[in-house]
Amino acid sequence: NYNSIPAFHAKLARSRRILAVCGAGLSASSGLPTFRGADGLWRNYEATALASPKAFKNDPGMVWMFYAYRRHMALRAEPNAGHYALAELARQNPEFLCLSQNVDNLHIRANHPSGQLKLLHGSLFALKCSSPTCSYTEPENLESPLCPALAAAAVDAPSSPTEIHPLLDTTKPLPTIPPSSLPHCAQCQTALLRPGVVWFGESLDSDMLADMDEWIRREKVDVVLVVGTSSLVWPAAGIAEAARGPGTSVVHVNVDAESPEGLARLVDKEDFSFGGDAAEVLPRLLEPVVGRWDEE
Ligand code: APR
Repeated sequence: NYNSIPAFHAKLARSRRILAVCGAGLSASSGLPTFRGADGLWRNYEATALASPKAFKNDPGMVWMFYAYRRHMALRAEPNAGHYALAELARQNPEFLCLSQNVDNLHIRANHPSGQLKLLHGSLFALKCSSPTCSYTEPENLESPLCPALAAAAVDAPSSPTEIHPLLDTTKPLPTIPPSSLPHCAQCQTALLRPGVVWFGESLDSDMLADMDEWIRREKVDVVLVVGTSSLVWPAAGIAEAARGPGTSVVHVNVDAESPEGLARLVDKEDFSFGGDAAEVLPRLLEPVVGRWDEE
């Protein structure tokens, strides 16, 4: 029964409190690379090696170019049917909470109700001060260029998504951006601004984690949707099991869900595992609540 859509629909009909834990696979069909897939490299760098305080300390210009490239990609991507299905589920069911590791802004652009969305790893479009003693943050700033140096590095940004971005084109050397020409904090006036995301080795926002725990503990969780994540990065990787109680169904939606590795994630007879693209599978799973999704 683990991959029966009618069996899942029967469960959904009996479910009220639903949690989703999303990862990069949800945005894969929007054209954004995942972290640990074959495309999880930026030029010759491991994406995971650039997303760290150490990398920023060593070469902030390099890390900012990586984020300038990711902002560029995310701005040009469009939310897919998976993001829209989750947003509609949130509108139809006030007891649905979506936790996302994605920093690409696509949930918000799919009009996901903000009270039912927690961005565990922050946002590519937020800024914060890199000094641990300064609390300055700047909210989403989509259009304004970060600083002239980064705008110049991406000056030949392609207009079509199939064209290669200059920051990705390994035939061209990367420019060197000195720290002095990167954006600086307006409050402390000394430290550099950095992307408003959570890096390896850093903690998630403690208020957000407390709200999440409170939501999970308040009452039994009926369904946990685990969508497009390798479940390797903590604490996100532990949320589904933390939310499990008697009768909870953990539902995996992942391209590899029906591989031996994917099936090994099934813990309980109430669990489900659906293999395929999240943008295609989620709308089918949620159809009884969100209606039929017709691609234009
Ligand atoms: N539909 C569903 N699942 C997919 C799709 C797709 N179209 N494409 C890929 N996947 C799956 C992969 O099989 C993999 O399990 O999505 C998962 C992506 O895993 P990761 O690349 O590890 O991404 P994620 O789990 O989001 O990474 C967690 O790591 O580097 C950090 O902070 C970053 O938030 C990120 C965190």
